[in-house]
Amino acid sequence: MENFHELLINRRSIRRYTDDPIDPEQVKMIIEAALMSPSSKSVRPWQFVVVEDKDMLDKLSHCKANYATSIASAPLAIVVAADTTKSDAWIEDASIAAVFMQLQAQDFGLGSCWVEVRERFGSDGLPAEEYVREALGIPEQFGVLCIITIGHKDEERKPINPEKLLWEKVHIGSWKNTDE
Ligand SMILES: Cc1cc2nc3c(=O)[nH]c(=O)nc-3n(C[C@H](O)[C@H](O)[C@H](O)COP(=O)(O)O)c2cc1C
Repeated sequence: MENFHELLINRRSIRRYTDDPIDPEQVKMIIEAALMSPSSKSVRPWQFVVVEDKDMLDKLSHCKANYATSIASAPLAIVVAADTTKSDAWIEDASIAAVFMQLQAQDFGLGSCWVEVRERFGSDGLPAEEYVREALGIPEQFGVLCIITIGHKDEERKPINPEKLLWEKVHIGSWKNTDE
């Protein structure tokens, strides 16, 4: 367990993974991280599909035209869906669950990447959400927010440079117009 601030500095999106499998206990703890995440009114509208089957990972990697190749490289992908009829904050709730999983993965020294599904489209124009619902049998009322890919890192990314954080986006006390 690295110091939490160090963990945030070192977390970068990883899109290439080795073939090494992930320890099943770590997979369980990554899912627990999602299940422990806070949600509006504690409705917990999310559900997760854990995919390790190579053929299915390859199929899911074609859910949209671009930026989904990390799914085919990963030994594990967790599809984050939520019941849109249960909560008007399903996107926020599902986002928090997704990020909790990414942070837990980082804590294990694993790499991860968020692959956006909602409002994205395949090369044939089909909504990526429909494609993923169809591939995995997810009911219609579930929005599919994203797919979190996880695996042992097969690429090096530089840590975030704390010297380069966008402090101009932070307003102390009241909004200051920074255009002037
Ligand atoms: C809402 C959201 C959607 C994203 N969608 C994708 C995606 O579809 N494919 C991808 O490879 N990365 C995706 N990313 C990862 C971003 O590209 C990445 O976080 C960003 O470039 C910053 O890099 P870093 O995570 O290494 O700091 C997404 C991230 C977020 C938060």
